[in-house]
This record gives sequence, C-alpha cells and structure tokens, in this order.
Amino acid sequence: MEPVEESESYHRGLALRLEEMAPDDEFPTESSRAQREVEESLFAEDAVRDAAGLRHPPAIQKDRMRAYLRAAVNGKIEKYFVGLDSSQPWLCYWIIHALDLLSSSEEPVLDETTSQETVKFLKSCSNKSGGYGGGPGQVSHAATTFAAISALCVIGTDEALESIDRQSLYSFLIRMKQPDGSFSVTDDGETDIRGTYCALTAASHTNMLTPEITRGCKDFISSLQSFDGGIGGEPGNESHGGYTYCGVASLCILCDSNLDEMGKIIDLESLKQWASMRQMAFEGGFQGRTNKLVDSCYSFWVGALFAMLRWQPGEPSLMDPSRLNRYLVNYCQGARGGMRDKPGVRPDYYHTCYALSGLSIAQQAMCEEGEDVPSDLRLKLIDPVYNLHTRRRERVYRYFHGRPFLPE
Ligand code: FPP
Ligand code: ZN
Repeated sequence: MEPVEESESYHRGLALRLEEMAPDDEFPTESSRAQREVEESLFAEDAVRDAAGLRHPPAIQKDRMRAYLRAAVNGKIEKYFVGLDSSQPWLCYWIIHALDLLSSSEEPVLDETTSQETVKFLKSCSNKSGGYGGGPGQVSHAATTFAAISALCVIGTDEALESIDRQSLYSFLIRMKQPDGSFSVTDDGETDIRGTYCALTAASHTNMLTPEITRGCKDFISSLQSFDGGIGGEPGNESHGGYTYCGVASLCILCDSNLDEMGKIIDLESLKQWASMRQMAFEGGFQGRTNKLVDSCYSFWVGALFAMLRWQPGEPSLMDPSRLNRYLVNYCQGARGGMRDKPGVRPDYYHTCYALSGLSIAQQAMCEEGEDVPSDLRLKLIDPVYNLHTRRRERVYRYFHGRPFLPE
C-alpha cells in the first residue's frame, strides 16, 4: 500500500496536470480528439510507471540507444524501413550523428573499416554532374546532398572530407540557384527553404559561400515570415517548425550568427514568440505548427531556434528545457532502444536522431539555468546551425578553410 501522503500528492499532481490539458470547449473535432488521445496516452505511461513502483524519474538509456543504432550500422535495419530507399544518405547521417551524441569521447564514431565502407558508399550516391542522390544511380537532391555531407562531417577523417568533389558540388548548387535567390531541391523541383538551407550548409562546410551562392538569399528568407512570426516553406505558406529552422539556420550562415544583422531581415521577437508557443502545455514537447500534435523531432527543429536566437550564453531561454527533457526521456524512449515521435508509435532512426539532438539542446539549456544534469547522462554538445557535434563542425571548418576554393 502507498503511504497516504504520497497518494494525495500524486492526485494533486494529476489535478495540476489536468489543468494543463488542452481546454475542452465541448465541441469536439477530429484534432481536439487526437490531442486528447495523446494526453491520455501520456497519463497511461505515467500510470504504468507508477504501478510498477518506479519512483525515480527515468533517465536516458544510453546503452539501449547505442545497441539500437549499432545494430543498424551492422546492417540490421528492419524491413519496415524499405520505404527509405531514396533516403540512404539520410539513414547514414541519422544513425552516426545519434551515435556521436551518445559517445563520451571525441574518438571516431565508426571503426576504420566501417568508416571506409561508408565513405565509399556515400561516394557511390554522388553524381558526376554534382550533388548526391538518395542511393546509387538516383538523381541528386539538395536534401540528400546535405545528409551525405553531414554524414561525412561526422565521420570526419581526411578520406571522408577529401571524397567531396567541390567543383561538381559547386556546379550542382549553381544549377539549383533560382532568379529569386532561392534554390531548387532538384532539377525542376520545389524551391522551398529546405533547398536554401541545404545548399548554404553544403557551401559553408566546404568554403564555397561565393557571392553567386548567397545572392538574394536574405530577401528570399525575408519573404517567408508569416503574420504570426513563424516561417513557411514558400512565400504565403503556413508557419512550420521544420521550415522555420531552415530559415533561421540559413540566416545564421549568411550573417555569421550576428543577431543584429539577422534582426534586419526578419522580426526576431515575433519569431521567438511563435516558437515559444509551440511548446505544449501538457506534454512539454513541441508541436510543429498551430493546432497540431506534439512530436519529438520538433525538439530539435524548434528547440534549436532557442539556441540560435540567444543574444548571449546564459540568457534565460523562452522554452522550458526541463519539461522538454521530461517529454523526451519519459515518453519517447522505445523499450528496445531508439526514440519515437510519441507514445504508441514505433521508434525510428529519424526520430532517434532529432529527439537526441533536441535532448542535447535541452540539457545544455538546463545546465545554463543552473540545473544539474549528471555527467553520465549528458549528450554531446551540438552546433544548432548544422546539427553536428561542435568538435566535428570545427574540424570541417579547419579542413576546408585551409583550402580556398576557386570555381573553374
Ligand atoms: C511533417 O509535416 C514534416 C516533418 C516532420 C518534417 C519537417 C522538417 C523540415 C521541413 C526540415 C527539413 C530539413 C532539412 C535539412 C531538409 P506534417 O504535416 O506531416 O506534420 P505536422 O502534423 O507535425 O505538421
Ligand atoms: Zn516527427
């Protein structure tokens, strides 16, 4: 039997949490029902934990996460990922970046043979006319180019960085460049802000941020901010966490993270307000847009905004990092490793990558606000603009900035 005090405080806690649930105006809709289901699923998780007598808050199960990711490195990718045939460089990046975050040393993430095989595989996804496709023989796309280059940056060996053919990559990026300053994601493809972010990241890593690449980017980004402060994929589109991330990170690249400069291009105050409204009152995690459900990947897409828009280290954040931490650790860990979007769905590599990246951001903010995060639970620090461990980004910067680029 539980001591009476504990059970009372438990019920008081529940009552408090009920107040945080989305208001019920007695006009249920599809989305209000979906929201209530998510809240109830979190209650259910708490009840299971309580019934099992688990008094301590759960911690991130690093070993289980590593085992899930290591199995994938060793070729054990479950059948239900077959739909990711055109996202193979993404799989490489999600898996090895997540492993990097979990590792406590600066040692290479992959052993020598796996590292060489991965570099060779990523090379086989590249095309003579520049850029990387979703797999060998697939057309180049800005997003898979971003993923392949990011994976090579995590591997970080000379061999990995040398394997990037800068001349053909540059021709690909210039071929994608549009008259309005944006970038198409592929030949004749969409020209939303993902193209701009992926192109600028590739050019920034490889020291190819020429005036031809950056031309018109600031004006394009400025045209994407919506009335509510967030950023949509294309002018006039609804604000969304993923696109807002791409817009703000692109501006960081273009303005060298100078917030005074960035503030002349978009309204940073309304953007921060929009971002802070994405943290869910009950769940503690973020949604990607108004009236939608919490999803752990936005822990990074939205959480990184707070890290990029800080005037100075230690400035209080407009998010609540402890509640974000609680959402990720209490509700998003898969029983057999991996991170999931929300309770009730299976873990996958995409959510493992972005939920852990968001957890790294939450932990950093908690530490800066004076909360204790035990060192054995800490994840590596990331550069929010590139979503790489800070040391990996420094290494890539040093490597390419010692090698100036001259377009042919
Ligand atoms: C879901 O929209 C979309 C996502 C979960 C991805 C959003 C991320 C980006 C656009 C960033 C892309 C970044 C790069 C580097 C290419 P939805 O409508 O299914 O989900 P919702 O209900 O949460 O809005
Ligand atoms: Zn998601």
